[in-house]
Amino acid sequence: MAKKSREKRVEAVIEVLNKAREMELQAIGQYMNHHYALDDMDYGELAAKMKLIAIDEMRHAEMFAERIKELGGEPSTDMADKVIKGQPFAEIFPFDTRLEDDTVAIYSDFLLTCRENGDSISMKIFEQIIAEEQIHMNYFDNVASHIEKLGDAYLARIAGTPASTGGTTKGFVIGGAE
Ligand SMILES: [Fe+2]
Ligand SMILES: [Fe+2]
Repeated sequence: MAKKSREKRVEAVIEVLNKAREMELQAIGQYMNHHYALDDMDYGELAAKMKLIAIDEMRHAEMFAERIKELGGEPSTDMADKVIKGQPFAEIFPFDTRLEDDTVAIYSDFLLTCRENGDSISMKIFEQIIAEEQIHMNYFDNVASHIEKLGDAYLARIAGTPASTGGTTKGFVIGGAE
């Protein structure tokens, strides 16, 4: 098989970087929606963490965009999918756990595309972001299982806690909120 031209290889990498960026843009919208929903339900602590995770996704969207620009591409402004609104409380954390789990699986494929096309810088970006999505997934899964196992006792402890992020705007992973 003939070797792909450099142009084709760069094109393949830009394509997965943009697909990932669109997934980040969807996650930002979804988590901001969940942030406001949890705040309205008066689960302040959960709302605050959700806000910080949305900030992480914004940083990821920027990391992908910067790499796309370096490669001479145009960062997408589309979302991979629509934001789901008005989810019942019990569905929020299992939903977000699945979203992160799917993201890890898809980004692992995208990382392979970067490897096949000889782009080790983009591979490293995916590696770092996959590790952060895993932290998000573990957190969401942890909250989901607390809600499932402890139910009202857990929620009574969370109800009325402050929705403030304590001045941190660095996000969940870097801000050390985990
Ligand atoms: Fe992300
Ligand atoms: Fe995430």
